Amino acid sequence: MLEIALKARLPLITTTTRDPLATKQVLDHLAGRKDTRRSSGSLPTGKIPKGMVVYVVGQMALPENQTIEKLESHYKAHEVSVVVVNPVQKLPPNFYDAGEMPTPLPIVQRMVRKVVGVKAAPALMPALGGLTLKEVSWLIRIASATQGELTRETLTDARRSAFHAPAGLQQINSEMGPYLPEPVLKKWAKQELPFFMNGDDPRLRPKGLLLGGEPGTGKTMAAKWIADQLSIPAYRLHCGSLFDKYIGETEKAMTQALAQVDRDEPCVLLLDEVEKIFGGSSGPTGDSITKNVLGELLWWLQEHTTRVLTIMTTNAQDDLPKELYRPGRIDETMTFRGVGYNSALALAEHIAASYTPALTGVRVHKAVYALFESEGHKLRSAGTTHWEGNPRVTQAAVSAAVVKAVKQKMLKPSKSKIH
Ligand SMILES: Nc1ncnc2c1ncn2[C@@H]1O[C@H](COP(=O)(O)OP(=O)(O)OP(=O)(O)O)[C@@H](O)[C@H]1O
Ligand SMILES: [Mg+2]
Repeated sequence: MLEIALKARLPLITTTTRDPLATKQVLDHLAGRKDTRRSSGSLPTGKIPKGMVVYVVGQMALPENQTIEKLESHYKAHEVSVVVVNPVQKLPPNFYDAGEMPTPLPIVQRMVRKVVGVKAAPALMPALGGLTLKEVSWLIRIASATQGELTRETLTDARRSAFHAPAGLQQINSEMGPYLPEPVLKKWAKQELPFFMNGDDPRLRPKGLLLGGEPGTGKTMAAKWIADQLSIPAYRLHCGSLFDKYIGETEKAMTQALAQVDRDEPCVLLLDEVEKIFGGSSGPTGDSITKNVLGELLWWLQEHTTRVLTIMTTNAQDDLPKELYRPGRIDETMTFRGVGYNSALALAEHIAASYTPALTGVRVHKAVYALFESEGHKLRSAGTTHWEGNPRVTQAAVSAAVVKAVKQKMLKPSKSKIH
């Protein structure tokens, strides 16, 4: 909005920023000039070069014998724009409110290039969406000091530990333990994710997924895995803090959160357990609010062209309004159904290998076998591992069975080790 206002040469503009020291750089860039000028306090009068951009930070004062209307027409006549940044007083309606000052990516890239060189800079950019120049320089220092090297991963990690997530959102830790993605998810990621980062045509960009399935089948982990594959920040929408008792506030919170992820692109937006907000017709705070919030989300899912990948998870897909997951809003619905015996074994072996000392061989087999038995499944014939009716267990149960077996091994080391 600020860029449009400057291009349109609006005479009086106001904007806010978390980084007032970068104002000149940003305004120069947005206005396509090099001579943006700061005026200390009072609005400029007298002769001002045509097309000039002048800014005031904080307190704004009217010069003596002037009215805002007179100044406005004076600026208009000279095609001058005066921008009041972070105003401390309430401004008259003559000012166009341009909202938050953006930090144009070319400026950020220039700064990052100075630190890491021209070649390495582009790969780091996806970790820096929505940050001001000051914040980017802090983040680079923090990541270098705490993580030793500057990569997209270390920047994303440092961002999570050292920066506040935007209001209503929580940056989630996408560091993964041992994880085996579902084949259908892996296939989707391989096909679609390259279009998320590189696709210049927004129509080709994946928008997101709805992941269904019973508790413990790895829906939340799948969302983290996707963020990890992309090495970009992942935010969880705080559904709890979304609902507000004041009329209109809930919708506003949703709108603000969505505007925020648009600003912080590229990123993953996780809407975990969406049925808790939109399940059934009666949301937690009554029908109309739920419907309005749903409306906001539906509109955004359809219309946004930013690089925001939305992953929704649910235990109760049947309770969700169908328009939430129709094509055009998200790309695909996947239902996770847990794992059969052979996949459970492969998963258990994968998880077991991550412990020190690793759990191997017979103990892993025994643990998985015991798990299937404890869930009431019966063998088709004795001495085999063919179960009646091809039963499935959840990944969470497999993970828990491995933990149990690891603990048992620690308490009772095998005889071969004792002798
Ligand atoms: N594909 C997987 N590979 C390895 N471990 C997994 C996998 N899927 C799930 N797990 C294990 O199961 C646990 C639960 O997974 P997760 O929290 O993603 O389940 P969920 O489907 O989101 O459950 P809920 O519906 O209760 O939120 C994980 O902490 C992990 O230990
Ligand atoms: Mg979950």
